[in-house]
Amino acid sequence: MRVLVTGHLGYIGPHLVELLLEEGHQVTGVDLNLFEESLIYPHALPQRNRILDIRDLRPDDLRGHDAVVHLAAISNDAMGILNPELTWKVNFEGTLHVAQCAVRAGVPRFLFSSSCSVYGKTDDKPIDERGSAAPVSVYAETKVKVEEALSELASSSFSPVYLRNATAFGTSPRLRLDLVLNHLFASAYSTGVIKVLTDGTPWRPLIHCRDIARAFVYFLKAPLERIHDEAFNIGSSVETYQVRDVANLVKRLMPHCELSFAEGATSDPRDYKVDFTKLKTTFPDFELEYTLERGGMELKEHFYRYGLPMDCLTGDRFIRLKALKRKLKAGEVPEYFHVAEKPLEPVERR
Ligand SMILES: NC(=O)c1ccc[n+]([C@@H]2O[C@H](COP(=O)([O-])OP(=O)(O)OC[C@H]3O[C@@H](n4cnc5c(N)ncnc54)[C@H](O)[C@@H]3O)[C@@H](O)[C@H]2O)c1
Repeated sequence: MRVLVTGHLGYIGPHLVELLLEEGHQVTGVDLNLFEESLIYPHALPQRNRILDIRDLRPDDLRGHDAVVHLAAISNDAMGILNPELTWKVNFEGTLHVAQCAVRAGVPRFLFSSSCSVYGKTDDKPIDERGSAAPVSVYAETKVKVEEALSELASSSFSPVYLRNATAFGTSPRLRLDLVLNHLFASAYSTGVIKVLTDGTPWRPLIHCRDIARAFVYFLKAPLERIHDEAFNIGSSVETYQVRDVANLVKRLMPHCELSFAEGATSDPRDYKVDFTKLKTTFPDFELEYTLERGGMELKEHFYRYGLPMDCLTGDRFIRLKALKRKLKAGEVPEYFHVAEKPLEPVERR
């Protein structure tokens, strides 16, 4: 297969490229490389490695590909708050631009990296794909609107599918420490204190970043009629935790560290339990390879093996919000943060 991966130089992307290359696929990567300093060990690059804004892609760039896996995004709530307009421009307009290019170029599959955060705060009953979206951040709102807009483009020759991924954890060649397990581990490692920023009660489904990549590889090969214009929650009910469970795991990994909850901490509005039955029943042979515990142990091993710096949390190498702020301030972001729109004519629904 010829696969175009956007965001291949992010946190999930290097795992995905490695898995695709291992299976013999031809890969084109498209990424602005916004977080180049986050590299902790080298990784495989696709046959075509393009440093490019997704909004500058043209249909010819996609022609001949069998599928797009679209990861590129302003990819968390904090960055969304920093610059909501930019988040809409990249996540909504940028995604629609890539999808329209794919339609024009005759690329039949479009795998969109959505998020379980579309559900916002849920009650105690796990929510499935038919449940109402109630996003509590700009980031999550863009995911909801993109799914709706991609659905409008779905046709007999264009099959979008929406993988609503759980919150990622674990190690990657391009490490992130702004995700709950990784953050708490980094807090223990660098300060000796496992500092939980909430009261620890929110529920969150979690998944290793490599398992997200494995899901994309799996869906690339899935029969189109099973996935056409469908949303799937990607994760497992077994791997659904309260933040305090995650903190307790870090305590077991780093027993000498103190565990603390932030004084006067309130609950987090991002509090949800998700139902993963559809994934399990549609694709019973797709299993997660990582538990939180296994991912935590590997993360610890990598912190020490690659000698992560003691300023890993206070510096801007591994925290996307801080890295983005620095780039904006230094004017190191390419034009697209400021460019005028370059939309293509909207594509008619067939
Ligand atoms: N990590 C998670 O917990 C998680 C969970 C659910 C969904 N997702 C989604 O999965 C996708 C990948 O997540 P990630 O954690 O690897 O994100 P990431 O922020 O680590 O990587 C995103 C990549 O996109 C690139 N990018 C951003 N804007 C771009 C643009 N305009 N043109 C080209 N490249 C651009 C960045 O340079 C970066 O390398 C995102 O869409 C994210 O919203 C992530």
